[in-house]
Amino acid sequence: MACFFRRRIAAKLGRTLQQSEEALIPALSAAPVFKKQQTADFKLSLSTLRVSGILPSSGDIQLQTEDLATRLKQDSVVEDISAGRGVINFRVNRTLLAQKILEPFENGEDDKFGLNSELFNNLKRGTTLVEYSSPNIAKKFHAGHLRSTIIGNFIANLKQTLGNNVIRMNYLGDWGMQFGLLGAGFSQFGSQEKLKQNPLQHLFEVYVQVNKEAEHNENMRLAARDFFRQLEQHESQAVSLWQQFREITVDEYQHVYKRLGIHFDIYSGESFHQDQAQEVVHQLQSRGLLKTSEKGTGVVDLSPTGDMSSICTVLRSDGTTLYITRDIAAAIDRREKHRFDEMIYVTDKSQANHFHQLFQILLALGHSWADRCQHVPFGLVQGMKTRSGEVVFLEDVLDEARARMLHNMSQSKTTKEMDNPEDTAEKVGISALIVQDFKGPLQSDYKFDWDRMLQAQGDTGVFLQYTHARLCSLMRRNEGIEAVAFNPSLLLEQTSVSILQHLLRYDEVLYQSAQDLQPKHLVNFLLKLCHLIASAHRELPVRGSPQDVAQARLRLFSGACSVLANGMRILGITPVHKM
Ligand code: ARG
Repeated sequence: MACFFRRRIAAKLGRTLQQSEEALIPALSAAPVFKKQQTADFKLSLSTLRVSGILPSSGDIQLQTEDLATRLKQDSVVEDISAGRGVINFRVNRTLLAQKILEPFENGEDDKFGLNSELFNNLKRGTTLVEYSSPNIAKKFHAGHLRSTIIGNFIANLKQTLGNNVIRMNYLGDWGMQFGLLGAGFSQFGSQEKLKQNPLQHLFEVYVQVNKEAEHNENMRLAARDFFRQLEQHESQAVSLWQQFREITVDEYQHVYKRLGIHFDIYSGESFHQDQAQEVVHQLQSRGLLKTSEKGTGVVDLSPTGDMSSICTVLRSDGTTLYITRDIAAAIDRREKHRFDEMIYVTDKSQANHFHQLFQILLALGHSWADRCQHVPFGLVQGMKTRSGEVVFLEDVLDEARARMLHNMSQSKTTKEMDNPEDTAEKVGISALIVQDFKGPLQSDYKFDWDRMLQAQGDTGVFLQYTHARLCSLMRRNEGIEAVAFNPSLLLEQTSVSILQHLLRYDEVLYQSAQDLQPKHLVNFLLKLCHLIASAHRELPVRGSPQDVAQARLRLFSGACSVLANGMRILGITPVHKM
């Protein structure tokens, strides 16, 4: 395991520098692998040692590096120590490398690989509430909601993998004037029958229609206002229609989320907090934080100097609350109910200011835990379209991904042997969507491109799935050959060593992702792993090799396959076994 070597090197350094192992671990990292080129296994960064005060930060860094390198003695585990530019390189015994890395796969601990690393010792565990997806009833499920859904799921998976207790929450846009319109419009344009047949579609149609009508029809606007008033006053007829809309929508979404392999522990929504939002206004008032603006709205002054140069509106002049007011109430309620240690909101970056203001107001109300609330913003997706046009429903995107993938698969001969090609196409298609989305920094905008994301050869989700399926097939074909014991000294070719070295980095990659909540580290790690595996398929044949060599290689392939599958699952991808 990576941790065995990292600890060993840290201990050696500790003895030389009179420091604890723990203090030295952050300065060590597994070296990135370059194809066809021998590299060291670990690197020690001298500048990190200087920053952390372990070495004096004055003086020539190169001299310091060389001096330290000569003071460190090699041994049977760490076979080579050399100075580079500001770094010291460590090379470990190759047989031991293979043995230690592949050991965990022997005891059926495949899914634990990399997880009991010392890197995670200082991570805060506890309860993490992740809020994601959060679409609006009757409105479009746009690309931003899809991004929020898959990114939030990744963050929840990652936190869970690292030992947190995770609460997955969907916060529906199920309140506000749009329900006045929808409720009022339904009696005119809606049909219970259509609502049962195709709920999302029908609600959306009614919503579009009633909005159009309200543009020129004063009576419609009045009716909408009246319906919303009835809702706010909990009048039973209005509430039961609203409830029907909500339940039907949640049912529909649950189906689609299931296709994505996503679930939520709680379906919350803005409607849950309308009364509490009024309570929040009172609290702001009693703390002297509520000001009345010239327009008669209730505002909170968030400017550092108190000159109202930056304000946040929490109350309309007619006394109704807003999106942010409900968010303040919702946050307080979640904290009381779930005692989370941290809370993460996932939305597009246009809401960054909203969340900034939310956290500021929570702090002003004395909720110091707001410091442990975080907004994870992401960029816009341009051009998410299907063959039939602009995307309105999540389901359309999933259908299109599946159809396109099925078409691509029908060109290949292995598909015919599959039991359920639709199901495979669905999983591979979703994996393509996810990888396209996760490859870059989340904050970046990107252009949605069906053809590029579905390429079998490029750095795509299809390539990840293809590699996984190919490894599974290798294992199937060689069933019975694999043995419990294998000889690690038969894995000394550069191709094997590169895979092993790359696996050394897995815990660091997870650690990095946990720090900045960016999936790109893991995605790029897995893509690289797949490229290394592709070389290994060419250069390390199993069939036709002597039994002990075949066994050692199979062990390497099966270890790589497990790590690939584990990593894919954290990303929210279900690995397929045949393709
Ligand atoms: N429903 C909102 C939208 O579609 C997103 C909700 C985000 N979460 C929150 N707590 N404000 O824009």
